[in-house]
Amino acid sequence: MSKVMGAVNRKDGRAKVTGNATYAAEHQIPGLLHGYLVTASIGSGQIKSIDTSQAEKAKGVVAVFTHKNPPKIFKPSNNFISSKIYEARLPLSDAQVHYGGQIIGLVVADTFEQAKHAAHLVKVEYETQSPLTEFQKATFKEAPPFMGEELKFEKGNVATVNNAAVKIEATYTTTTELNAPMEPHAIIAQWQGADALTIYEPTQWVMGSQRTYAELFGLPAERVRIITPYLGGGFGSKAMPWPHGILCAAVARHLQRPVKVVLSRRQMTVNAGHRSETEQTIGLAAAADGKLMAIAHDVKSSTSPVDTFTEPCTRVTPVMYSAPNLRYAQELAIMNVGTPTFMRAPGENPGMWALESAMDELAWSLKLDPVELRLRNQTQEHQHQNLPFSAKHFTDCLKVGAERFGWKDRSRQVRSLLRDGQLVGWGMAGATFPALQGVATVKVRLLPDSTVHVLTAGNDMGTGAYTMVAGVAAETLGVSVEKVRVEMGDSQLPDGGMAGGSMMTASLAPAVIKACQDVLKSADCNDATDAWAALRQSGRAAFEATATSAPPEGEKKWAFQSWGAHFCEVTVDEEIGRLQITRWLSVMDIGRVMNAKTAASQVRGGVIMGIGQALMEECLLDPNIGYPVVYDLATYHFPSHADIPRIDVVFVGEPDLNFNLAGARGVGEIGITGVSAVIANAVYHATGKRIRSLPLTPEKLMADFRALTADETRDAQEMKELIASNKSHERVAGHSQNV
Ligand code: MOS
Repeated sequence: MSKVMGAVNRKDGRAKVTGNATYAAEHQIPGLLHGYLVTASIGSGQIKSIDTSQAEKAKGVVAVFTHKNPPKIFKPSNNFISSKIYEARLPLSDAQVHYGGQIIGLVVADTFEQAKHAAHLVKVEYETQSPLTEFQKATFKEAPPFMGEELKFEKGNVATVNNAAVKIEATYTTTTELNAPMEPHAIIAQWQGADALTIYEPTQWVMGSQRTYAELFGLPAERVRIITPYLGGGFGSKAMPWPHGILCAAVARHLQRPVKVVLSRRQMTVNAGHRSETEQTIGLAAAADGKLMAIAHDVKSSTSPVDTFTEPCTRVTPVMYSAPNLRYAQELAIMNVGTPTFMRAPGENPGMWALESAMDELAWSLKLDPVELRLRNQTQEHQHQNLPFSAKHFTDCLKVGAERFGWKDRSRQVRSLLRDGQLVGWGMAGATFPALQGVATVKVRLLPDSTVHVLTAGNDMGTGAYTMVAGVAAETLGVSVEKVRVEMGDSQLPDGGMAGGSMMTASLAPAVIKACQDVLKSADCNDATDAWAALRQSGRAAFEATATSAPPEGEKKWAFQSWGAHFCEVTVDEEIGRLQITRWLSVMDIGRVMNAKTAASQVRGGVIMGIGQALMEECLLDPNIGYPVVYDLATYHFPSHADIPRIDVVFVGEPDLNFNLAGARGVGEIGITGVSAVIANAVYHATGKRIRSLPLTPEKLMADFRALTADETRDAQEMKELIASNKSHERVAGHSQNV
């Protein structure tokens, strides 16, 4: 078995760049009506009156729905097994307004423009309360378990550690971030009579959506068909129905006409989830040799009044570093905001921002190399689950990364490197994400025209799943990848699990391998070439086999987790607060790599998204109406090409065969973890400024130089003089090229 499979080009690449890939909202349906949402303009209160008469009279309008005439929707069990919706409160269920931008109506018309125009003619009077939108003013209570996992733990006793050589404690914050996928949230709902429903909607979980819409409308699951061949990103925000989708399907049934609803970019800032604001306090105590004696991690995050979502930051605490005394806890506050949700590495992303920043602070306090500090403290077991990791090559990530980056040449002082009049800094941090696997079924058919057809309802959210499936089938059958046709993302195909939690590859790849092996066995052949010959002789239309993969059964022997290390170089121009990332290296241990090209692309995508979080993403709310002041992709800043350096990605590639027979652990989310910490750590090295609140905006970079010790201040003074005299290039490090 090869460690890293070859770089296969995307199967869906051509369709996407030529516009032949049909996304949900692009499906052409005869007689289609268009729905436009009416949303609340207050952050908290009650609707006193709602007047739809003008809207109803407007040209093209077919119907207007509000809480006065809500379409029929059944309450789902909402337990993740039978069904799951993002926001437990059903749309239009009463006159209450819980957050700014909450859906309070839907106007349906012949055209999109008519519906939008009429939506603005709906007159609403409110009884207004002042919304709670400021995190600092919220009241926090203990957070419930996250999907069954306790977010509270203690071993040893952190409070009694008093013989440490160094102790640090610091608080790190992140702001509200938006998933902001390139393809907006959209749905077309088409009923065949009153008891069969077809949905075109980007969903990361085809069969989960099928079960959920079925429950919402009192139907058996097989009466609902979900069609999602392509998604333009989702990052966790497209796994389940949101209120707009539920409402669209409900009014389509009521009207017995197909209806489409597309969220505007402005609506997507409140109606399709976000990453909660977080505040994390980390305490670390270490002996003089760097061995950790205690870790304490306390987290606060926010949720909405109508559902509970906890950003599970403490999931990283028991897996990264070993300490005899370790404690963590999470608190949650209800604020008047839309419901937060999963966003690429929920928990691990902000969790690693705090933990990996704190580890850097500790390394400076100990005067110890941060790579060395991590090597000395890594843990071989999950300290909460008390299980050894199935395979862990974090050491390789650190060592290979340090070697390739040239880390040994890093100066040990802050403000000690200059290039072209700008401060230069190097940073590093770890990365991690759990390895999950779902139950997935795949059908493989060998056809007489010497092709292979692989079918599954599991889908490709833009990550490269089509290509991965084709590559695995080709390898197992011994054919070229061009011979393999893959069909995904339709609930009429076998249940392929969820494209979430970085588990699509780990779920599908073993099922593909098994189904391919079974089809050869049933043909009594060793490879596909023989099987095709036998097939033609037999006169049959196809040889086919269906196989299911499942997570390891029985007594839990292992904890499954992926690992990585990022290294970066930044330059900082303090005069104007400009931060540029000039060099990047990520070394990842994700088990076996199923496609070198798309896997590296997932890491790069994660790093780019992390750079966005580190430098610019921030969804600020208007405190009066509780509505975001950002409203599109121009006001919500994220990186463009000019902000991104070349990103080198290296894989360890050791197959994790304790996990599944493909040895693959998945790669969708790990790339974003640790990214903001690496950058902040590099900024500290460059400037001596320890910035503990994201994003690292120009005003923070330009701020006074407060965080310095006496020695560092002397260095800084010397540096200032050097900059002034423009002789700075003499102290420039040599590593300005990509490795
Ligand atoms: Mo992911 S946040 O499970 O799409």
